[in-house]
Amino acid sequence: MYGPIFLVVSILGAFHETTAASQHINKDLSNQYNARFHVYEEPYSIDFTYHNYDQMSRFLRTTSLRFQNLTALYSIGKSVKGRDLWVMVVSSSPYEHMIGKPDVKYVANIHGNEAVGRELMLHLIHFLVTNYGSDPYITWLLDNTRIHILPSMNPDGFEVSKEGYCEGGQGRYNARGFDLNRNFPDYFKQNNKKSQPETEAVKEWVSKIQFVLSGSLHGGALVASYPFDNTPNSLFQSYTSAPSISPDDDVFQHLSLIYSRNHGSMYQGLPCSPSQPGFKNGITNGAQWYPLTGGMQDFNYVWNGCMEITLELSCCKYPPASDLQFYWDENRVALIKFLAEAHRGIRGFVIDENGNPIERASIKVKSRDVSFLTTKYGEFWRILLPGMYKLEVYANGYLPRDVEFRVVEQHPTYINVTLYRASRHPGEDEAGSNFYNGNRDHVNRDHVIHFRPHSGANAASEANNGIFSSLSNGFNSFVSNWFG
Ligand SMILES: *[C@@H]1O[C@H](CO)[C@@H](O)[C@H](O)[C@H]1NC(C)=O
Ligand SMILES: *[C@@H]1O[C@H](CO)[C@@H](O)[C@H](O)[C@H]1NC(C)=O
Ligand SMILES: [Zn+2]
Repeated sequence: MYGPIFLVVSILGAFHETTAASQHINKDLSNQYNARFHVYEEPYSIDFTYHNYDQMSRFLRTTSLRFQNLTALYSIGKSVKGRDLWVMVVSSSPYEHMIGKPDVKYVANIHGNEAVGRELMLHLIHFLVTNYGSDPYITWLLDNTRIHILPSMNPDGFEVSKEGYCEGGQGRYNARGFDLNRNFPDYFKQNNKKSQPETEAVKEWVSKIQFVLSGSLHGGALVASYPFDNTPNSLFQSYTSAPSISPDDDVFQHLSLIYSRNHGSMYQGLPCSPSQPGFKNGITNGAQWYPLTGGMQDFNYVWNGCMEITLELSCCKYPPASDLQFYWDENRVALIKFLAEAHRGIRGFVIDENGNPIERASIKVKSRDVSFLTTKYGEFWRILLPGMYKLEVYANGYLPRDVEFRVVEQHPTYINVTLYRASRHPGEDEAGSNFYNGNRDHVNRDHVIHFRPHSGANAASEANNGIFSSLSNGFNSFVSNWFG
């Protein structure tokens, strides 16, 4: 558990006191009039209107009180102007990580004037909590996944944005004029922008929870864009549109296609206007569209081992509220199916010979040189398409280990890796032993990066077979019968 959640606990605590006192009068809490929150007297609903900060906060509080077993509300920090950066967890285990099961997230409204994603997140929360228990797919998803939703990373920007403005920059930036999607550490280039409180809050958040999969929601285009956003190739960067291919290119293309294919129109790839590009199948490599430094998706992937893609959901950044129902209808299935992809690939535990978890073991899938770390329970996850792979596992003081495994379409592959202590007799020549020496320093660093980028097309090309054939029936029947 970590700091921000206590805030919520205290709110709920106050609520429990009120209700507990009246419990002897009427045990039927659901009909109870609650003077403090006015929660149970109104039907639980969400309109297709824009919610400013106060209205959004009220909706989130109401939800957390109404669905105490399914949601938890916490703040990861505050904006420049002191607005809370609310995150709502939706899961059958809202307050505790479910050991072995993935945490996933959506982050919306990073650009304050890109407003559709923000509202879609409120509708998604509403949809999930009201369908749990009746819709088998949603029930399965919430029983096996913790979904963290940050509806607005830039609440200050939203407050100064204007409905109906499809373009332009008013409200895009935070209250100090910084573009938050250019404010993260960058793997390819030094980012000299002063880190903003909203960015710091997200960095701390993602360092505390091992997210497996993430979507970053934007507007102003209609496309799913995947890493890398930046490129090592700076000389001609503004004149060319070369892709910057990551070692997990096949997985990123797959995740992007899951979104675009399940979206109402994205897959058609039509340009938003004659002056804008179209996108084949509604997806693009980020740098191929246009390179940028300090973006959030590359940061999630390289620093935190979280697969994040950027979802551009509306040609108009802040369309009239009367269009919101249309956007919800276009995105609902895609938003849910995308998250279920966290259940594809490999997962397991790294343990020592006594069965105890090894925290911060460094893991890499061979030929995919972006490594990731185990959690304090020794857990790891990696989204992979069907095929044969090799896992390379290192931890300080243990002999390194390679483990071959197969990923199938139908269900995740579970693997436990046992590491054995390396003997450490004085004077022993470690350089000649089985110790993993080459990157020993990395294992102790805050973020572990074995990845060395190449310019141009590279490493992932061998894995490109089957990108377009990966939507076979097996996986779909595992996770997605529900919309059939
Ligand atoms: C919430 O969970 C608690 C503990 O498992 C249970 O006793 C209670 O009935 C649940 N409440 C609802 C509304 O499901
Ligand atoms: C893997 O380890 C975890 C945690 O120690 C344990 O719960 C699980 O049963 C193990 N799975 C297998 C396949 O051994
Ligand atoms: Zn944006």
